[in-house]
This record gives sequence, structure tokens and C-alpha cells, in this order.
Amino acid sequence: MKNPKRYLITSALPYANGPKHIGHLAGAYLPADIYVRYLRVQQKDVVYVCGSDEHGAAITIQAMKENTTPKEIVDKYHAMLKSNMADLGISFDIYHRTSSPIHHETAQEFFTALNEKGDLEVKETEQYFDEDANTFLADRYIIGTCPVCSNDNAYGDQCEKCGSSLSQEQLINPRSTLSGNEPVKKLTSHWYLPLNKHEDFLWQWILQEHKGDWKANVLGQCKSWLDAGLQPRAVTRDLDWGVKVPVAEAKGKVLYVWFDAPIGYISATRQWALDNDKDWKPYWYEKDTKLVHFIGKDNIVFHCIIFPAMLKLHGNILPDNVPSNEFMNLEGDKMSTSRGWSIEMEDYINDFVKKDNGGEQMVDALRYYLTAIAPETKDSEFTWKGFQEAVNSDIVGKFGNFVNRTFVLMHKLCGGKVPVLHMDLLDDTDKNIIKEIEGCKTKIEQLIEQYKFRDALFEVIMLSDAANKYMQKKEPWIIAKQTGENGNLTAEAQMLVDNCLHICLQLTANLAIFINPFLPFTAKKMCYMMKVVDKMLDWENAGKLKLLSVGYSLREPQLLFRKIEDTEVAEQVEKLKIKSEKLKVEEKPITDNRQLTTDKKPEIVFDDFAKLDLKVGTILSAAKVEKADKLLRLEVDLGFEKRIIVSGIALHFTPEEIIDKQVVVVTNLAPRKMRGIESNGMILMAEDNNGKLYFIKPEENINPGASVN
Ligand code: MF3
Ligand code: ZN
Repeated sequence: MKNPKRYLITSALPYANGPKHIGHLAGAYLPADIYVRYLRVQQKDVVYVCGSDEHGAAITIQAMKENTTPKEIVDKYHAMLKSNMADLGISFDIYHRTSSPIHHETAQEFFTALNEKGDLEVKETEQYFDEDANTFLADRYIIGTCPVCSNDNAYGDQCEKCGSSLSQEQLINPRSTLSGNEPVKKLTSHWYLPLNKHEDFLWQWILQEHKGDWKANVLGQCKSWLDAGLQPRAVTRDLDWGVKVPVAEAKGKVLYVWFDAPIGYISATRQWALDNDKDWKPYWYEKDTKLVHFIGKDNIVFHCIIFPAMLKLHGNILPDNVPSNEFMNLEGDKMSTSRGWSIEMEDYINDFVKKDNGGEQMVDALRYYLTAIAPETKDSEFTWKGFQEAVNSDIVGKFGNFVNRTFVLMHKLCGGKVPVLHMDLLDDTDKNIIKEIEGCKTKIEQLIEQYKFRDALFEVIMLSDAANKYMQKKEPWIIAKQTGENGNLTAEAQMLVDNCLHICLQLTANLAIFINPFLPFTAKKMCYMMKVVDKMLDWENAGKLKLLSVGYSLREPQLLFRKIEDTEVAEQVEKLKIKSEKLKVEEKPITDNRQLTTDKKPEIVFDDFAKLDLKVGTILSAAKVEKADKLLRLEVDLGFEKRIIVSGIALHFTPEEIIDKQVVVVTNLAPRKMRGIESNGMILMAEDNNGKLYFIKPEENINPGASVN
């Protein structure tokens, strides 16, 4: 789109059903943030919206798993995602949530508008129903045997073992995860969006109009959907969690999560407008708005086919582009939070950003690597070793190094002030590097506007590399030794030194502008060092040589980035292995924890119970037991003594995370040898239906040795 009047940028609304990993960050949030920051420094009218996707089975199932309510789940994870994104510098204008009243209202109005125009169809079909739980069963609530690979625990929409996508009817011996019973078929009616009626329009709009500007992976997926022919899609569900279908006879029905979630972009814009005293309508109705959806490849059909069909019927504008990324793998395997093979944003923040040796520079280090390996055209791979190499060689070795040297030399050879530029003394080397600054600006613009952030960032690093080479060639520290007969630096030599450092300083200022959309914290720090306000980072200043005035005194350099040590790499790789091992024991399908199986034991008298000597202990140390995957050797403080206890919890907890935890210990159990270590007691644990273990401990820390009766 040529010269849009305003921009509306969205990132896929993440499900508030758990922490999100850095693959998500690299796919839908970081690229959008770079794009938005770039538009903002161009003074464009831009609004960047996102928020938590809080409906659907993803949420209700997590609630079952954590033995709590959907509301508590979304509150907890919404808060986590919101703060994680802020910590990582993702600069939303609003991070909204779909459980908010304004969203429910917006989604209902949208549905009603389509329904009243006759754009939806109502159909009655048979669906699985759980008579005990008195509810229809969403796909994920049904498990059964996979017709493809015979896995006994395939879900109603997918077998996670062989990856086949399934429908409920295909499962052999289906059973409900709520009651364990075999579900029955029952008639129910739902509203459908007849996508088949919009095939021609979609074909024309996507494969003709956007043939030239959408990414090949996006066009490819759309084409295969359209080639296969579109079917009417149900936009309502029998579920009690979600946006109620605003029709009297639709009791117990909610909008399908994929119908309401993208409308979340609209409700977020409305909320943003309310908060900022703005009008939201132009962003969704005026043709000169450029709407861009940043997503991961699993969201393509929803953003390119279904939501546009909805928008068209509703009279809204359509997206100008849907830059979708492929997936980012991790250390040779697919990233997956449920399998523990992932780096959660939360974990990275705790391990690097919030540590003393971390801080914002570690946010930028991550932003750097994720952008440098962004899966823009094909899947890519995160490795901790790769992270270390990229950080140490590119941003420490090239970018940071150049800025640091420039500042150190400017203080040493130019009295801490911006030296004069003597135009008449410029040689070809000087002129070439000056030209490169200008060229860099144009290239970055072209690349960012084509959503090629990886290449754009590469240009910035290449410029810093060229800058280092320039300085190396000029060797101002050598020229500074050219003293005259009186022992002072000759006037000519000083002028050459001044020229070189003047250019290096202007290069530094330009590098700050160029790096800013990608590594905003670094750019800010550079502004601080140069004693300029953030306004200097305006894009129109880029490519210029006059950003810092002659005679202006600058601060001492600060290190922009630190190196990543080998030990940190090793620790993270180890941590990943432990985490995924730990989750292997939990790989059973999820069942409802609110209905615990009661395996009852025979009645006992009080005296039987009184024989147990239960005491509160504090774990002092924990270590893995060699050649025993499941065992941890614990040293427990019981107040009156310290004891060694061997406990079979190694697949559930890492040694580090349980140190200082309080536990309840059966202290008078006869000693028992396990793998050569004598265990003197037993730790009490609770276990849920999914085999997950929980410590039994006093509500607050109390003195070890306290008795439990
Ligand atoms: N929650 C979905 C996911 O994580 C994405 C929703 S994007 C929206 O895959 F457009 F529907 F909001
Ligand atoms: Zn299977």
C-alpha cells in the first residue's frame, strides 16, 4: 500500500494457558515490535495492539490440569505474559484481554451483525455428549484409540503420537476425559460461516491481488486451502467458558474461540482509543489504514482466510499483509512447552535479565540472536552455542567493540569532546565510509518495508564491521604519536586524528539510530553516552554526518554488551535436558483433577496412626544419585538432627529448586538402603491424577522438628 495514513499492527493473541517460549517471541512479537518501532521513529500514526486469548478449550483444559478455575488460569497467565512482554521490550500500545467486557460486547455485536444480515447458517448435527458431566465434549475432552497408529490416548482433534489430525468420529473406543465414560451422540445446533460462498473473493484477493507482496510460505498455504475447497465452519461451541452467543435460544453456547479471538484486535483498539481519547473507527474502517497481522505459521488460515471473510462481511478493511514466520526449533528438536523442550520467556528473564550480570543488555542480546536467526522463510534453529557465538562475535566483537573504541579514543585523543571535521583533508577511505552510512539507511528501509528484519539487522552489523575496519585502517593511535620537534603532536596529525574520530562518532550516532528498532535498550544507552535526547533517534536523522556538534563533550563509555561464558551455555543445555526429562513422566493425557480417583484403604484405629512419627524438616541440600534417574539424595534438617533421605522425586524436581523447601518427614521408618545409600525416613508427597507430585508443607516456614499430628 502506498502512503497509508495510519497503521494498525497486531501480533497474534497468545493463549493465556501457560508461559510462552522464545519461539513465540521470535515468530509474532519481536518482528512486529521492530516494525512498529521503525514506524514510530518515522512519526507515523501507528497503533500496535495485542492481548491475551482467554477462551477456548486451551484454557478450560489447563484449569483442569492445575485443578482450578478457568478464571484463575487466565488471570495468572495474563499477568505473566503481560509482564514478560514488557520486560523483553515489546512495545504494545495496549496489551488487552478477551475476558474483558468490551471484548465480549464487541464480539457479540460482530456476530449479531453477521447473523442479522443472513451471513451465517444454522445447522443441526450430532456431537459427543457426556451424560455424567451433562455436557457436550469439545475435541480435546475426548480421547480414544488413534485409527492410524493405535495410540490409546489420541485426542478428538489430533493424535500427538503420530501427528495425524483427526475428527471425533474417527477415534476408536472414545471416552470422555471428564468422567472416563463412553460419550453418547446427541443433536445440537450451531452457527456456521459458509466459507464456501466466499471462495472466489478470497482467491482473487489473496492469489491475484497479493501475489506479489505476500510471503511465499503464506501464499502457498492459502493456495492449498483454496485448492482443496472451503467448507462451512462452525463459529459456535457447546461450552460454558467464552463469549455467550447473543441469541435467546443459544443457551449454553459460546462463540468458537477462533471466531472471538481475532475480534480481540478490534476490541483492543477500542480500549486503546478510550484510554487515549482517540477515535478507533478509522483504524478498522478507512481504506487508507494499513493493517498488518504478525503471526506464526500455525495461524495462517485464520488470519488469511477466515478472519478476512468475517471482516469483509462486517464491512471492515482487510489486512494489507500477514507476515507469518515459520517455526524456530531448539537444540535439534521442535520447541514445545508441554514436552519441556523450550526456553520460556519467563525463564530467560529470570536467568539472564534479572540477574546482576544481566539487565537490559541481555534483553537486547536475545533480541539480537532471535532476529539474526528469525525463521522468516524456513524453520530455523536456536542453540545456546549459537546464541553465544552471535552475541560474542557480532554484538560484542563488532558493534560494541566499535562504539567502545570510539569513545575511549575520543577521550584519550580529543579531550572527551567531539572534534572538528576538516573537509579538505578527507581522503577516499573517509569518503567511502561516509557513503556507506547513507547507503545503509536506504537498504534498511527497503528491507524492513519488505518484512526482512533479519537482513536489515545484518546491514547494521555490517556497517559496524566496516566501521571497525575503517578505524583499523586509519590507526588514529599511531598518528597520535607523530610529534614535531617540540615534542607536541603536529597540527596536521591532530587534524587527521580529529577527522577520524569525528567520523567514528557520527558513525556511532548513526548506528544508534539504525539499531534502535531492533535493540532499543542499546540505542538508549548510546544516547546517554552521547548526551543526546532520544529524539536524536528519529529516522530522518539517519544517514547524516551532523548528529553530534563539534565541541560537545561526551560521557565516559559504558560497556554495551557482555560476553556469554561457556559455563552459561553448559548450564542452559543441562537445564533443558532436566526439564524435558522431568516432563516425560507427565506425558499421560490430561484428566480432570477435580475428580480424583479414590483408592480407599481399610479403616485403622487411632493407635495405628499414632505410631507414625511425623516431623517438619527443611531440605538443606539435594543431589542426583548416580545411575539412578529417579532418585535424589537429600540432606534434611529436623531440628534435633540432620538426616540423609533418598527420595524418588528426581524426575519431578531439580536439586536446585527444592533447596530450603520445608517438607513433612516420616522419621521413624526403618532405614533402607537405596543404590548403596542409606535412607533414614520418607518425605510425604501428594500426587494428582496426572502423576504430578506436590510437597506437603506448612503454610509458612516454621522451625524444623515441629511435629505433625
Ligand atoms: N491464541 C492463538 C494461538 O496461540 C492465536 C490467536 S490469534 C487471534 O495460536 F487472531 F485469534 F487473536
Ligand atoms: Zn496416531
